[in-house]
Amino acid sequence: MLRGLAWATVQRHRALWARAFGSWAGVPAHVVDLRSDTVTKPGPAMRRAMAEAVVGDDDYGEDPTVRELQEKAAELLGVEQTLFVPTNTMANLISVMCHCRRRGSQLLLGQECHLHVYEQGGVAQIAGVHSHPLPDLPHGTLDLAELERIITRGLGSPHYPVCELICLENTHSSSGGRVLPIDYLRQVRLLAQSYGVRVHLDGARLLNASVALHVPPAHIMEHCDSVSLCFSKGLGAPVGALVGGPKDFIEEAWRLRKALGGGMRQAGVLAAAALVGLADAEEVLLRDHQNAQRFAKGLQELASPICSVDLATVETNIVMVRVNGLPPEELCRHLEAVSADEVAQTGRAVRVLLFPWTERSVRAMWHRDVSAQDTELALRKWGFVLRQLGP
Ligand SMILES: Cc1ncc(COP(=O)(O)O)c(C=O)c1O
Repeated sequence: MLRGLAWATVQRHRALWARAFGSWAGVPAHVVDLRSDTVTKPGPAMRRAMAEAVVGDDDYGEDPTVRELQEKAAELLGVEQTLFVPTNTMANLISVMCHCRRRGSQLLLGQECHLHVYEQGGVAQIAGVHSHPLPDLPHGTLDLAELERIITRGLGSPHYPVCELICLENTHSSSGGRVLPIDYLRQVRLLAQSYGVRVHLDGARLLNASVALHVPPAHIMEHCDSVSLCFSKGLGAPVGALVGGPKDFIEEAWRLRKALGGGMRQAGVLAAAALVGLADAEEVLLRDHQNAQRFAKGLQELASPICSVDLATVETNIVMVRVNGLPPEELCRHLEAVSADEVAQTGRAVRVLLFPWTERSVRAMWHRDVSAQDTELALRKWGFVLRQLGP
């Protein structure tokens, strides 16, 4: 009896230890981090390229590696020029400031888009731009009739702000990485042009959209006036983004980057990482999308009443999982913890890291540091947790 008690105590301590430190009986738990595609760490090739980068003072336009990146990206995006900036938030802010020169200009955008929700209202607090958010439709699109109604309702009246810009996001992250259809982009652009309004694309994940649609990014960009593109998401660089557009737009963007404190000096060490990310982007993003698909299908096959996925909405590297019967935070806690039972039943200790997305959902994002094998391990862990929690 005493031996039984002692064994139970040891087990309890092991479980607590495992939960706290992510290892079981001295064996480190395998971590599958699906919280975001921003969590990637630069691999050996990227670090080598950074170490060996030829650099100069980019604030004098003298960094050859930054120039190489800007030129390659301009060609890829089919724009006249691009400008390297530290973050996609700065790229979006600069773009809005370039397009909306008059204080109180109106910006139309989706109420759930990154620019509106997660960039601290920079366009209001720094640029004096008035955002008018519209409901995002499930596909990440905006209703065209509503767009036109807002653009036209104050035309010619001094009581209304003047609409200067529409911002779209592609892929649209809060709807689960949905890809904006090309025909929709064409229609938004035609509408915007007929009222002298410009279209900016938050293309933090534009290359995911391009891979999913099997079209070059330039094909998507035909329907936009400017773009931001991020290197520190699926492309795996530690930092960096860019703004793309016509030559005069980029000249103004250069001035604004300086004003916002984004002018960098030997930035070639960062541009070198971005170049490595760009070089294998298509292959890596395709693999991310395939892994996300595999996970979504596997989760659906588990047929749990607790979790479900709408497979039709999984278009790129993001999977939105609907959660029933318990708060998503609790599900995330179970997926992160490791226990003796898990090791006994699955032969592994795996911690799956995730963020709750809404009060009824969890969002999982694939990236270059999550392999096909990691995806299988994550699925196995979900299976284990759902069996434990299940009816
Ligand atoms: C769609 C989108 N736009 C912009 C950003 C901002 O990027 P950064 O973190 O580089 O400022 C993010 C970041 O997650 C994003 O998902």
